[in-house]
Amino acid sequence: MWQNVVPMSVIDNIRENKDISRDELEYILSTDDKDSIEMLRSAAREVATSVYGNKIFMRGLIELSSHCKNDCLYCGLRRSNTSAVRYRLTDDQIMQCCETGYKLGFRTFVMQGGEDGWFDDKRMCRIVGEVRRLYPDCAITLSLGERSRESYQALFDAGANRYLLRHETASPEHYAKLHPGDMSWRNRIDCLYTLKEIGYQVGCGFMVGSPYQTVDTLYADIQFIRSLQPQMVGIGPFVSTQNTPFAGWPNGKVSDTLRLLAVIRLIHPHVLLPATTALGTLHPQGRELGIQFGANVIMPNLSPRDHRKDYAIYDNKICTGEEAAECRACTEQRVKRIGFETVVDRGDYKS
Ligand code: SAM
Ligand code: SF4
Ligand code: FES
Repeated sequence: MWQNVVPMSVIDNIRENKDISRDELEYILSTDDKDSIEMLRSAAREVATSVYGNKIFMRGLIELSSHCKNDCLYCGLRRSNTSAVRYRLTDDQIMQCCETGYKLGFRTFVMQGGEDGWFDDKRMCRIVGEVRRLYPDCAITLSLGERSRESYQALFDAGANRYLLRHETASPEHYAKLHPGDMSWRNRIDCLYTLKEIGYQVGCGFMVGSPYQTVDTLYADIQFIRSLQPQMVGIGPFVSTQNTPFAGWPNGKVSDTLRLLAVIRLIHPHVLLPATTALGTLHPQGRELGIQFGANVIMPNLSPRDHRKDYAIYDNKICTGEEAAECRACTEQRVKRIGFETVVDRGDYKS
């Protein structure tokens, strides 16, 4: 037993074997030994730098719709939340966001939204096709939840390259505590494999500190990442949200999120790993810390300012009052201040 200290040999083994045992994960999450955490941080940063140098990739986030047919218990956009303000961007607004984004140096557009039937295949393929036509040098990432294989294929054929679909938890029992009975863990996992088969670069992920999460569910998450081998992994702290069944639950911990970012970097060195907005919401330097613990992607908001505060997936979300150019400049400054560089690049996965 190592008690409170995580020996360097353990961190070296995780790095060497690209694997971690359940007990090692528990030690890493429970230690309060500053030197152990610093060793973990520096190993993760070293691995990230060996693959991607000091480059941080920017993705421009466009929040298409706050309508959602689902009722995930943690999310402010869930259909039962009658206090949520609902909006949808028009085709013109979306194209405007891309135009602004392109001028600001973004070469990846991430179109995200609730599961909203308005954005059916016909409409979405039209939008993706138009962005592909106007910006052939950009990557198009979608994050629109669970759809059919035919839909994913049509969107891919229209020009989408990447898809973010957090698996939320690798434990079916845990999934059932976070979602209503009409949502299926199996379907979500199948969607990820379908997306991969079609040829998308895929991103899975989970919230850190979600209700009922345990070391065992987190260990299952890590093993799921090892078997899926996604190009991207999105993790951020759970943020307790008003008008949801989990209002009043404690937020996920920033320190756990940082340690898990580092572990994910060590077990999957080439992964594109964002320092998320949720991390920046719970700590003023959350995203910078994320980068220092091995993250290499940041996703400033490109959505029209009028609608930003209404994409309220969780409380106190940052960047709801700023213009796209302000977030772009702010991001660059933050990244620069800690010795890294934002790049104008699609930022593809390096295999
Ligand atoms: N509707 C799509 C989906 O669920 O995949 C994409 C948008 S959804 C808002 C994106 C992610 O937000 C979810 O995968 C979830 O992990 C995260 N999220 C939702 N509610 C959250 C909360 N209260 N705190 C932190 N993250 C949250
Ligand atoms: Fe809808 Fe996604 Fe929120 Fe679930 S997490 S309610 S699918 S927007
Ligand atoms: Fe949006 Fe700093 S990134 S204001």
